[in-house]
Amino acid sequence: MNDSSPAVQVDKLHKSFGAGDARVDVIRDLDFTLPRGAFEAVMGASGSGKSTFLHLVAALLAPDRGEIRVGGELVSAMSDREATVFRRRRIGLVFQDFNLVPTLTAAENIELPLLLDRARPDRAHVDSLVETLGLGGRLSHLPSQLSGGERQRVAVARALAGNPDVVLADEPTGNLDSPAARSLCELLRSLNASTGCAILLVTHDPVTAAAASRVHLLRDGAFVGAFDTGHDPALVSERYLAAAGGK
Ligand SMILES: Nc1ncnc2c1ncn2[C@@H]1O[C@H](COP(=O)(O)OP(=O)(O)OP(=O)(O)O)[C@@H](O)[C@H]1O
Ligand SMILES: [Mg+2]
Repeated sequence: MNDSSPAVQVDKLHKSFGAGDARVDVIRDLDFTLPRGAFEAVMGASGSGKSTFLHLVAALLAPDRGEIRVGGELVSAMSDREATVFRRRRIGLVFQDFNLVPTLTAAENIELPLLLDRARPDRAHVDSLVETLGLGGRLSHLPSQLSGGERQRVAVARALAGNPDVVLADEPTGNLDSPAARSLCELLRSLNASTGCAILLVTHDPVTAAAASRVHLLRDGAFVGAFDTGHDPALVSERYLAAAGGK
């Protein structure tokens, strides 16, 4: 990554679905910057455009207009093929439903993006992720033999294995019970600090958002405010509800 570039830079990003009378503007001329090494969250109600925004940043979806840069590289101008390779090398993805390959062990899932890229895993880095995430005794297990919390920790290890510019996480705690969710949030915070990898997560859950140091409020496809969390779920909840009440 270019050292002076933010992890993510979005300029005048716009996305609509449908056409004519059925057209819905889901992301409306958004500007957004995620500094290098930052851990920030986007919060918004269901349907506010959180997943669409994240998928645009990950180049899983093409914008109607606007520019998206990840580590200084203009992903919005890439072909599908270029975006696929870029994503594998420079972006880590974590989804609500884990998205592990059911026929591969935890160890194989963690190294899959590297193998697809014919890259040699950085053994010390992967071992340290496995240790931090408490997966040492689970490496030969299939996803079906893991708890939800363990599956998501495998997904986090996979996301970080290639030392990406940014990890993008869509409701990463959405399918976890509260203790597993809390533990995942703590791990994300500590991995953000230890690896320096930037993290952007989207969620409507104040406890999850409090893992981030800053929250951006998304309403109807536009950012309507931002605040520092102090890592305090009560404060995040209060600010989020106040913003929703001001609708
Ligand atoms: N492929 C699509 N075609 C048409 N409309 C879509 C498509 N994807 C999303 N939308 C619409 O865009 C809006 C935003 O959806 P999005 O999934 O980004 O919301 P979200 O904030 O992630 O919601 P949730 O919290 O429920 O996951 C919704 O009204 C949704 O119906
Ligand atoms: Mg969503």
